[in-house]
Amino acid sequence: MPYYRQVGELPPKRHTQFRKPDGGLFAEELMGADGFSAESALLYHEHLPTAIVDSRIWEEPAEALTANHPLLPRHLRTSKLDTGSADPVTGRQLLLANDDVRISYAVADRPSPLYRNAVGDECVYVESGGATVETVFGALTARQGDYVLLPTSTTHRWVPTGEGPLRTLVVQAGGHIGAPRRYLSPRGQFLESAPYCERDLHGPGEPLLASGSDVEVVVRHRAGTSVLTYADHPFDVVGWDGCLYPYTFNVADFEPITGRVHQPPPVHQTFEGPRFVICSFVPRKVDYHPLAVPIPYNHANVDSDEVLFYAAGDYEARRGSGIEQGSISLHPSGFTHGPQPGAVERALGAERFDELAVMVDTFRPLSLAPAGLACEDPGYAWTWSGRRG
Ligand SMILES: [Fe+2]
Repeated sequence: MPYYRQVGELPPKRHTQFRKPDGGLFAEELMGADGFSAESALLYHEHLPTAIVDSRIWEEPAEALTANHPLLPRHLRTSKLDTGSADPVTGRQLLLANDDVRISYAVADRPSPLYRNAVGDECVYVESGGATVETVFGALTARQGDYVLLPTSTTHRWVPTGEGPLRTLVVQAGGHIGAPRRYLSPRGQFLESAPYCERDLHGPGEPLLASGSDVEVVVRHRAGTSVLTYADHPFDVVGWDGCLYPYTFNVADFEPITGRVHQPPPVHQTFEGPRFVICSFVPRKVDYHPLAVPIPYNHANVDSDEVLFYAAGDYEARRGSGIEQGSISLHPSGFTHGPQPGAVERALGAERFDELAVMVDTFRPLSLAPAGLACEDPGYAWTWSGRRG
């Protein structure tokens, strides 16, 4: 739910004649969410954004999902995934999914094709490395710790720029992702009580113009994935305005909410999507009541599957479980989870945790994709009891 922005050249009134230097009209494109009843952007193209010359099926690998049955807490090690030369879009390895959300991981060293996801918004967390994200709205710089929010149907391309590979956790929604409604005023401004605000969101600053003909775009859509070929390069937008555009938010700008006693998980919420939320656990001072227990209770999140991606730092409550940087835990609904044995006593008196983790809570159960099963630590479920090896 970013705020109003305008970039490049625009006519003073919407849907009025806006002419190029040669006298021809720029081609308008209105991108609108929720049936044009929510945020929108109006873009001005040099060429028709409708002019396709070919369409073909993009053959995707099979993604047979396995239900989490019999019920188990899971530990996935992204460091154990098979990786080779890959790009940040087609190199994504699906780990967990349900009908609302898909969670993938990618290790990439080369640019992606032009791509857009017409099914829903994407939220891409940059674990390490950097990239330029070229979009039809302009370019974004993506750096370590950034959430990159890409609205539905935003044509874009990832170009890794860092020294090492670009490692990303990708959350694909079936709808729109934005700030939690409770962080916003009735008219959409971030409230003082929110852990971040408009100044922390970074959108494109200037148009990105490219030229070319017969340009392919990989389109993920409701019936599958296709490759559309456009007569002209889609990056031909001279200006746009509106409240619908891609942006970045760095997790280091999330201001933690702390207290004398343990704060409930919703204080970590960062974004919400249809039937899921995204939270950030950031380095912070911890509970300062003299008798505080600074790590969580054993808890049953009765309506959610909890996915935690351990992005950096030490995660005190999980010590002894095999969890490491790049690990993903799945604590499903129906299983009470909590600190590892001994962690409560060890944590007493702690003043600060340096953990950094991204959490995705889903309100429908998640299934495991083949890559998720392939990198699973099979002993994780028994680490609380200490039995079975
Ligand atoms: Fe939890």
